[in-house]
Amino acid sequence: MTAIPRVQPSATAPTSSTLAGLQLAATSHRAVHHRWLNDFQTGSLFADPSAISDFAGSYARYSTSFPAFLRAVIDSLESPEHRELLGHNLREEGGELDDEMREELREAGIDPVKVDGVSHPKLFRRFHDAVNGQSADPRALRIGEQWRDAFLELLRTASAPAAVGALGIGTEGIVRDVYQQILGGLENHTTLEADDYIFFTLHCLVDDQHQLDLLSIAADLSADEEGKRELTRGALAALDLRARYWDRMHELAVEKRCALLSAGPVLVHGATA
Ligand SMILES: [Fe+2]
Repeated sequence: MTAIPRVQPSATAPTSSTLAGLQLAATSHRAVHHRWLNDFQTGSLFADPSAISDFAGSYARYSTSFPAFLRAVIDSLESPEHRELLGHNLREEGGELDDEMREELREAGIDPVKVDGVSHPKLFRRFHDAVNGQSADPRALRIGEQWRDAFLELLRTASAPAAVGALGIGTEGIVRDVYQQILGGLENHTTLEADDYIFFTLHCLVDDQHQLDLLSIAADLSADEEGKRELTRGALAALDLRARYWDRMHELAVEKRCALLSAGPVLVHGATA
């Protein structure tokens, strides 16, 4: 698998026991350690060739709304410094790269020219089109839409610390661990080119920095007990929504596999399986 260097926390990264405990809870959550992700990583999900199209179509409904998620969190913040930190992340969603990020991409084996100026929704579209996401099962699309709508509702109605907990610790904080599993499946069990799934490779890099930005905001907003409670509430709500998304995608995959088996021998790569 591609070796992706982890961004080292800066000297200003928050280290309170609440934040550290919450980060550990997030990376230990079943939103990160899920049967569907394991099936994707090991390739067993691809026994039904439609599973990857279903994922691409469904996940597009969520991931292409990421700029809207960021804007919702920015709207909840009062501090101009906090808003600017996330404004920088929002510009990166539009494809903006700084020199530091270009260098990190080169170190990870990615030519920055391939992603410079390309918005992240467009990068996801590359993957989507490469695996024929337009043929996704309507049930998979609905699952992605319901996750997107529930997450956006959470961010728009949350207090500032809850919104930061949801997008920071509950989302950016686990993206690398989740996408590494997806990359494992794509690299080892498909014939896709690295450019086709560069969205996932890139996010293993940029979201480490995004997480640090959000953690520094989280530290400021969770100085009192109420802030800590809200931060935790938001993070856990986001994690539960993602776990529910994997639950439903797993249920759909099992249902479709059972239907395939009951329909008789399946033609796979020109041979009956
Ligand atoms: Fe992104």
